[in-house]
Amino acid sequence: MEFIDKNLNDYAENHSQEASDVLKELHRYTYAKVLTPRMLSGHLQGRFLSFISQFIQANNILEIGTYTGYSAICLAEGLEKDGQLHTIEINKELQEQALTYFEKAQLNNKIHMHIGHALDIIPNLDCTFDLVFIDADKENYAHYYEAVLPKLRKGGVIIADNVLWSGKVLDQNQLDKDIETKALDAFNKKVHQDNRVQNLLLPVRDGLMLLIKN
Ligand SMILES: C[S@@+](CC[C@H](N)C(=O)[O-])C[C@H]1O[C@@H](n2cnc3c(N)ncnc32)[C@H](O)[C@@H]1O
Repeated sequence: MEFIDKNLNDYAENHSQEASDVLKELHRYTYAKVLTPRMLSGHLQGRFLSFISQFIQANNILEIGTYTGYSAICLAEGLEKDGQLHTIEINKELQEQALTYFEKAQLNNKIHMHIGHALDIIPNLDCTFDLVFIDADKENYAHYYEAVLPKLRKGGVIIADNVLWSGKVLDQNQLDKDIETKALDAFNKKVHQDNRVQNLLLPVRDGLMLLIKN
């Protein structure tokens, strides 16, 4: 489901900063060769992630859900000079492709890819993060939130993707039977009521929940 008219989306893309040639190639590669390419953030959301990373002058970023590395590259583009990004992916088969593109983007010295379940890896990351991007399995969003919040600096930002889940969060039938829809709705309600953060749900692409730690 598209939340905005395709022509308007194209207009927004055409009036936003262009993606790098490496990102364009990775986009093409993912759509040609990898299963479920819709998972990739895409041009507009990628520019948004890059913009936020630069805007908050991030030194340390955590991403949960690397996939082919598109969003990791976008986020890392905005890092400060000596900044670092940790990205976690459970599927080892995606590692080689992602590392190839981190190198092509000349960001391999800034991006550290961890393979495994994010809930096992996060506790071992000895880092205070300025920005966290949650974009992995939807059932665990609330767990990822609790795991990363203590590691986020005051004023740090969390962005969670797909929180409108193609509009299914409005469908009672889906809320009753679909585990992912139920988990995302519970996550949205949890953070909305949580006085440890300020929240803003942006209907960009599939819904982005933005959180600032108080
Ligand atoms: C939506 S895709 C990420 C897309 C990527 N962030 C982008 O925008 O290009 C979600 C990824 O999370 C990974 N994933 C799922 N469960 C995970 C877990 N428990 N820990 C780490 N990664 C996980 C999946 O294998 C998949 O590659």
